Parts: sequence; C-alpha cells; structure tokens
Amino acid sequence: MKKNIVLIGFMGAGKSMIAEELSRRLKAQVFSTDAQIEERQGCSIDEIFKIKGEAYFREIEKEVIEELSLRCGVIIDCGGGVVLSEENLQNLKVNGIVFYLEAMPEVIYQRIKSETHRPLLRVPDPFGAIKKLYQQRSPLYSQADHVIDANDASIEGPVVEILKLYKNS
Ligand code: S3P
Repeated sequence: MKKNIVLIGFMGAGKSMIAEELSRRLKAQVFSTDAQIEERQGCSIDEIFKIKGEAYFREIEKEVIEELSLRCGVIIDCGGGVVLSEENLQNLKVNGIVFYLEAMPEVIYQRIKSETHRPLLRVPDPFGAIKKLYQQRSPLYSQADHVIDANDASIEGPVVEILKLYKNS
C-alpha cells in the first residue's frame, strides 16, 4: 500500500504550492484539509472562525483528517494548526510520511503580510502573533518524520528533497 505524503508547517510555509508540484510530478491527488472543511461547511475558513469559532473549526478539521488518513498514495496539505491535536498527527502517520516545511517567522511574515484571509493573523501585531505561535508550535511540528527547509523562495529544493525521501522510504 502506497504511503501518503503529508505536509505540515506554519501558515505561509509553502505547503499548498509544494503539494501541487508534488501532485504534478507524482501524478497523485492532493487533498487540502482547509478546502475539505470549506466544502463541507459551505463557507470560508474565515467565516467559520467568525461565526462558529476556532474550537468548532478544530472539530471539523479533526474529522477531515480522520477521513483523509484512510486514503493511500495521496498528498495531504494540512492547515497550519493540525498539530495542535496529538490525535491528528497519530492519524496522519498511520498511512503517511509527515514532512514539516520549516520556515523562520521573518520569512513567513514577509510572505503573508499582504494577505488578509487568515483569521489568526488579522491582529494589530501580526509579526508578534507569528513569533508567539511559532514558539508554541515548533515542538509539535518537530514530531514530523522529516524536517524540510522551506525558507528559500523557490519550492524546487523542498520538492526534490521530499521526492527523494518518499521514494527511498
Ligand atoms: C491555521 C492555518 C490555516 C487555516 C486556519 C488556521 C493555523 O491554514 O487552517 O486559518 O492555525 O495555523 P494554512 O496553514 O494553510 O494557512
């Protein structure tokens, strides 16, 4: 049974772009946990946070991960907060190799400062929020099977490294 490629990491680490490129090269399907949540709820992540709150969002995220973890040979592009639940990581690892795309808070801030769709960063001091969340989540992300340097603007390096690790697994 073919393993899934699971991408985790902070908002703006490049998960979606890297997932699309891996999908193209491996001819494998991509599932984004955020897109699945939006589809099921019929509204945007932003609206779910606003109307129902983060705890509700996390519940749906958990359900989506449970279901996606049953697949095989697919790429799972995870929302940045999936590591907040230990159960999520356990599920994702059952049939998946988990890659942590690691980018520094400064790099993340530069990438996402002009974007407005992320509820957790729509605060007066987004860089401060990134640094705080980054500190809290770093130990959780580090439970991945592999850590991939995603600081460079080009996705080629991470894509090649993930493919190599996946093919040798
Ligand atoms: C979140 C990251 C977002 C999305 C939601 C919460 C987080 O996904 O799931 O806004 O807690 O880090 P991306 O990492 O794809 O931006």
